Amino acid sequence: MFISFEGIEGAGKSTAMALLAEALRLRGHDVVETREPGGCSLGRLLRPILLDARTDGLSSRAELFLFLADRAQHVHSQIRPALEAGNIVLCDRFTDSTIVYQGAGRGLDPDALRRINLLATGGLTPDLTFLLDLPVALGLERAGIRNRREGTVISEGRFDSESLNFHERIRQGYLALAAEEPQRIAIIDAQQPADDILLQCLSATEEALRGRAE
Ligand code: TMP
Repeated sequence: MFISFEGIEGAGKSTAMALLAEALRLRGHDVVETREPGGCSLGRLLRPILLDARTDGLSSRAELFLFLADRAQHVHSQIRPALEAGNIVLCDRFTDSTIVYQGAGRGLDPDALRRINLLATGGLTPDLTFLLDLPVALGLERAGIRNRREGTVISEGRFDSESLNFHERIRQGYLALAAEEPQRIAIIDAQQPADDILLQCLSATEEALRGRAE
């Protein structure tokens, strides 16, 4: 079972994913946690280039191909082997991030992005996606607090420093994707307490696991 987590900056994807991983392990499942960009050794080299606010003048197309290089290698070296070994794989961001950030955000053609995503993944699609949704201003405030706490304001601020309008397009892009694929993408209200977010993610995961077992 392959599950991705998506959302705007500061939505709390990483926290929700860590809580779900812990809950699934307590129930006896083997779980692999990973993320994009940066879930494989190539991606760990690419992540600072992509997210560092000091990466100057990167074109939208060059940015796209760096994310896709990370994805192609990540699927090949980490995600597929983990799935084949029977793990539940939880991934912080996947193909939907490209559709909304490089599509709704940067203005690249969404149909072309879908095709190139397929090329990068070899057709691998998440079985389930949790879209953590919250107002943009709140997300950016949370991301700002996290960056200052982690001292990452310079090293990972390239997307955080985009305009409010950019992030609003991302949020709306995600909601449109969820409306197109309601059976895969579950919208989770990210303003709820973490325990409630976990309960929702856990019950959707268990339902999907039951569906597969039948
Ligand atoms: P995060 O891992 O802290 O969420 O940051 C990753 C950033 O990279 C985030 O701003 C979204 C962006 N991104 C894209 O623009 N396209 C992609 O395909 C992916 C995976 C991430």
